[in-house]
Amino acid sequence: MVKLDTIISLAKRRGFVFQSSEIYGGLNGCWDFGPLGVEMLRNLKDLWWKSMTYRDDIEGVDASILMHPRTWEASGHIAQFSDPMIDNKTSKARFRADNLIEEFIVRLRNKKKDNLADEIEAKLSQAKEPSDYYNIIIQYEIPDPVSGTKDWTEVRNFNLMFKTFIGPVEDNGSVVYLRPESAQGIFVNFNTVLQTTRQKIPFGIAQIGKAFRNEINTKNFLFRTREFEQMEMQYFVKPGNEFEWYEYWKEQRFSWYLQLGIKQENLKFKDHDKLAHYANKAVDIEFKFPWGWGEIEGIHSRTDFDLRNHQEFSGKKMEYVDSVNNERYIPYVVETSGGVTRSFMAFLCDSYDEEDVIGENGKTEKRTVLHLNSKLAPISVAVFPLVNRDGMPELAEKIYKDLHKNFRAQFDSSGAIGRRYRRQDEIGTPFCITIDSQTLEDGSVTIRNRDSMLQDRVSESNIKNYLDERLA
Ligand code: GAP
Repeated sequence: MVKLDTIISLAKRRGFVFQSSEIYGGLNGCWDFGPLGVEMLRNLKDLWWKSMTYRDDIEGVDASILMHPRTWEASGHIAQFSDPMIDNKTSKARFRADNLIEEFIVRLRNKKKDNLADEIEAKLSQAKEPSDYYNIIIQYEIPDPVSGTKDWTEVRNFNLMFKTFIGPVEDNGSVVYLRPESAQGIFVNFNTVLQTTRQKIPFGIAQIGKAFRNEINTKNFLFRTREFEQMEMQYFVKPGNEFEWYEYWKEQRFSWYLQLGIKQENLKFKDHDKLAHYANKAVDIEFKFPWGWGEIEGIHSRTDFDLRNHQEFSGKKMEYVDSVNNERYIPYVVETSGGVTRSFMAFLCDSYDEEDVIGENGKTEKRTVLHLNSKLAPISVAVFPLVNRDGMPELAEKIYKDLHKNFRAQFDSSGAIGRRYRRQDEIGTPFCITIDSQTLEDGSVTIRNRDSMLQDRVSESNIKNYLDERLA
């Protein structure tokens, strides 16, 4: 598996992802998507949107990020959306207490102290209150990885929601939160969507949007950030049918990643050991990142927790009326909750490869290539004149301008042709078109395939068809 630093460096060098506010030294836990990154991100979101909403039983919404503060009382976020936090008095370093313990367990396992690691892991899986985490840290004398000391503060719960104020007066009555999940924008719209569509249960509501969490420790590039994007869908079902739909969505979502090219050996399910306060069953889809397995999407059977609480807190009925069977109930919900930005990173890592190839001088050289699914690739086709004379650049530019109307295309006339191929391989461009002396004679071009590196000769008039067939 590729190293994380290699991915970060490629992402920066080629304009996929930059540190946010870099000129001011950056802002921790926030990233900007550059010219290539934004194209790939849009492709990823489009593919998800089409697969989820281009069907009869799912509607889309785009709810506001700021919501009525009662939303977060009803959802349980004000009371429960917190992480246990601990500070080291010497180094002043701050940690998520559970992460500190987990990392200690990993170090124990590396030292082959599996019995002790198992014992601590068992206690960690039972921990709920801040004092539970504190007791583990003190009992097992877990040191601060920064200073090596063990002088810890108490463990406190730290709410992860970003607070701000709505309107000009900054008082308690004007507090609002940046949403920590997009899901609640769907729940509060359950009635409005039901009333304005002809949906019958089972049906779903999908949304893509930003979410914000004031994470104690951000880490691993795009994996744990403070601002990120989610692609979520809540599927409303009759109580009692939730596990059947849970299995259905588990399978659908897993195969979505496989269809888009993630290698089977880099993807797995992981059942939750501890269920969230709203769930009666939950599983993560995990990807094998450079540092190990990490969640990219959760499938949660959320019961009627959210709708029931919104009904109670808002005083508005959140029921479904089944006029055929003369029934009335609060639906249960199966949720698919994916991270756009985490998946983006998974696709980058999974597709990255370094291969030995024979260069133009006949010697073996390295090519870095992103074997991205062509629907995800930021650029679909690049156009090159073989040399910058004999009318080739003009013809290449004309072909490029024509293609640009239908495809994300790039024109490149600088440097040796091999180097131009390498530049496109590195950003995952599936096809490169070269205009050479034969083009001037018979109007045919070569189209090179990124993965096989084989070339087809195609007449100019047939380029669009050729690409359409292969990019469809
Ligand atoms: N509505 C349920 C929910 O939000 P979650 O497991 O907390 O569930 C869902 O989050 C997905 O959102 C995760 O699988 C992950 O892909 C993404 N995500 C969560 N926190 C994140 C963070 N701090 N940075 C980047 N992505 C995050």
